[in-house]
Amino acid sequence: MFDVNKIRSDFPILSRQVNGQPLIYFDNAATSQTPNQVIDVITDYYKRLNSNIHRGVHKLSQEATEAYEGARKTIKEHFNAAHAHEIILTAGTTESINLVASGYTSLMKTGDELIISALEHHSNIVPWQMLCERTGAQLRVIPMTQLGTLDMDVFESLLSDKTRLVFVNHVSNALGTVNPIEEIITKAHAVGAEVLIDGAQACPHIKPDLLDLDVDYYVTSAHKICGPTGVGMLYGKENLLNKLPPYQGGGEMIATVTFEKTTYTGLPHKFEAGTPNISGGIAFGAALDYMNSIGYGAIASYEAELLDYATTVLKELPGLKIYGEAPEKTAVISFNVKGIHPYDIGSILDQMGIAVRTGHHCAQPIMDYFEIPGTIRASFSFYNTKEEIDRLIEGLRKAMAMLQ
Ligand code: ALA
Repeated sequence: MFDVNKIRSDFPILSRQVNGQPLIYFDNAATSQTPNQVIDVITDYYKRLNSNIHRGVHKLSQEATEAYEGARKTIKEHFNAAHAHEIILTAGTTESINLVASGYTSLMKTGDELIISALEHHSNIVPWQMLCERTGAQLRVIPMTQLGTLDMDVFESLLSDKTRLVFVNHVSNALGTVNPIEEIITKAHAVGAEVLIDGAQACPHIKPDLLDLDVDYYVTSAHKICGPTGVGMLYGKENLLNKLPPYQGGGEMIATVTFEKTTYTGLPHKFEAGTPNISGGIAFGAALDYMNSIGYGAIASYEAELLDYATTVLKELPGLKIYGEAPEKTAVISFNVKGIHPYDIGSILDQMGIAVRTGHHCAQPIMDYFEIPGTIRASFSFYNTKEEIDRLIEGLRKAMAMLQ
């Protein structure tokens, strides 16, 4: 049974006050909150296990290594990858994308094309632009529509035998649109292109099945999924990861080192130079266990209720416009109020203890498309409630009365 009050009691931060008011946290797309079950794993690591992994003969190092590699297996099972060594633990989505983009430098040739979408976060635009600058490859963009969906007819027309790679987010961070990644993967594969899906905004709401999707690369961050910051995942198919050169050089990623020549070790360590975020990796596994203990089915239906309710009540406010009304959305609402700068509303809401994000959300091309400087974004999680949405509406009414 989904019991939101019981779930809320797992999150200590939800009982704090902000500016003298109970915190209402609607900035979940920026980062999610952390339950005791994950905080305790981090604390326990530093109290009982703290040591370096893969290096020591001593007990602490062995136990920490087991916990870290155990987390990699949990992540592999959660996402249904074929092998645990296809899960590379990185600092987060941005590093995962940069790792792949850097690796393709030596694999691209002039005339190759890359396709991205108009709905991307800057982290899934800039690394590919940098790759194009290094290699002479061309970037093509799938345009978006007024609903905030991708124009799939144009996508088909962009695909050709020149297409090497396609990069699309599973869910748009700014609008919440769920993109048709199954169709994108199938069509890209039909012309021989590889596909990277940015799952940073999807994984708090959807449990992707990587083998079923047949996706080539899938990236995400733990901190969006009730885990800590500074750790994330790059999944890649074994044969593709084997072709990519290492991203960073250092300890742990080598087989042998002499001054004449270094040889590299195999997956996943080839891409994991240096001491990793050990407690973070272990806590990433714990966060996925926590999500699965609630259940993605229950999360999806509860969040859909929150999204429907919030959409309905927000639309009743005069002068309020919602950006992005795709038929398939996660619980994210971007909006503006006529004549008021998003930042001003965000600041007044903050005075009332309500945390929303304002601005371009690292997705300037989307803002340019709508010809706006930014939006107010309320992004919900399974621990939010309709009562909190009512407080948001009350806060917006007050802000509008003060500013209009
Ligand atoms: N990418 C994060 C967001 O959408 C930070 O807010």
